[in-house]
Amino acid sequence: LNNGLAGTPPMGWLSWERFLCNVDCDHDPQNCISERLYKDMADRLAHDGFKELGYEYVNIDDCWSDKSRDPNGQLVADPKRFPSGIKALADYVHSKGLKLGIYQDCGSKTCAGYPGSADHFEIDAQTFADWNVDMLKLDGCYADPKDMDNIYPQMTKALNSSGRSIVFSCSWPDYQRAEGMKPNYKLIGENCNLWRNFDDIADSWKSVLSIIDYYAANQDDLIAAAGPGKWNDPDMLIIGNFGLSFHQAKAQMALWAIFAAPLLMSNDLRALEPKFKIILTNKHIIGVNQDPLGLMGRRIYNQQNIEIWTRPVTPTKDSYYSYAVVFFNRRDMGSAVEVNTTMSGIGLNYSEGYDVQDLFRWWRSPVHLNPEDTLSVKVNPSSVVMVKAKISKKKTRNIPYTR
Ligand code: GLA
Repeated sequence: LNNGLAGTPPMGWLSWERFLCNVDCDHDPQNCISERLYKDMADRLAHDGFKELGYEYVNIDDCWSDKSRDPNGQLVADPKRFPSGIKALADYVHSKGLKLGIYQDCGSKTCAGYPGSADHFEIDAQTFADWNVDMLKLDGCYADPKDMDNIYPQMTKALNSSGRSIVFSCSWPDYQRAEGMKPNYKLIGENCNLWRNFDDIADSWKSVLSIIDYYAANQDDLIAAAGPGKWNDPDMLIIGNFGLSFHQAKAQMALWAIFAAPLLMSNDLRALEPKFKIILTNKHIIGVNQDPLGLMGRRIYNQQNIEIWTRPVTPTKDSYYSYAVVFFNRRDMGSAVEVNTTMSGIGLNYSEGYDVQDLFRWWRSPVHLNPEDTLSVKVNPSSVVMVKAKISKKKTRNIPYTR
């Protein structure tokens, strides 16, 4: 969507996977969907080093609103759980140098049964703008996927005329895919800044693998759809929760960078284990994710449960790109597998060669490799090795050639 927003994939935090629709603030005040939860997460993003790396959105998901609209037809936040209201929450989040996202649904109800936006697009877009909201996730429960090519653009229009810059996250292609339809990504890219393509992520390796498989199987369509201002969204990062090991967490981070995916963590930042924080705050991998070219990567090799993924990134020279490369070992037995390939074997043909650096062991000096040289990595089961191969700058001669 050409609204000047999301030039690189949005980064931040989203409540759904970890906190779901927990509305029981009497028994679980720390973890229920309430203004306290979002303030806590804003504090952690701002004070624990996330904000500086680009994590800026604090995003509310389902179950924030009252069960009915007010007499003017406006949405209102649940008065018990959001006693200060959304505008005050936005002010708080903004005071921390962050942005606030909110959730709605284009159908008659949200997925959890709260009032939907059907027949209320203009008033709801205006309400969110008046509350100083910065991003809207518009879900698709209780709406007909066959009508979504017509429904979603109505909200795009309403947001565009609301007078506020609001990043627009859609679920449109996911609902159409689930109905066996082929999403019209050209139209979707013209109307949304990001969009979910596939099932909800769960807190498990199996779920992460199913998303990776969907992205691989549909990569030609997905790559063509993505670019600055318009991103495929494979769903939240679940790193730091219960379902992924350290190695599996590295794999999610690395592949979400290859996918040029939004990096929206859904975890408890108040109790994040250091080993997971190290993964989430890896500035080299974030740099790949946020590469300004915005070209999505692809799987170029897949044999015996070893996959190689590459993504073209900056710096470029002539018609050559630098590359992020992920070696992914999907085997679930044994120990590290050695993978050897020439640089040209994975499409890296720049004649001056590349400086190759391990992005999870970035403190090691880069190695210079020419196209005919072999890159050799050892990849643990359910894990990845990720490197960046930067095209080498030709050494400038600083001694004038005289005879
Ligand atoms: C759908 C979405 C999820 C979440 C829930 C909320 O399932 O895909 O991401 O927003 O609804 O009910």
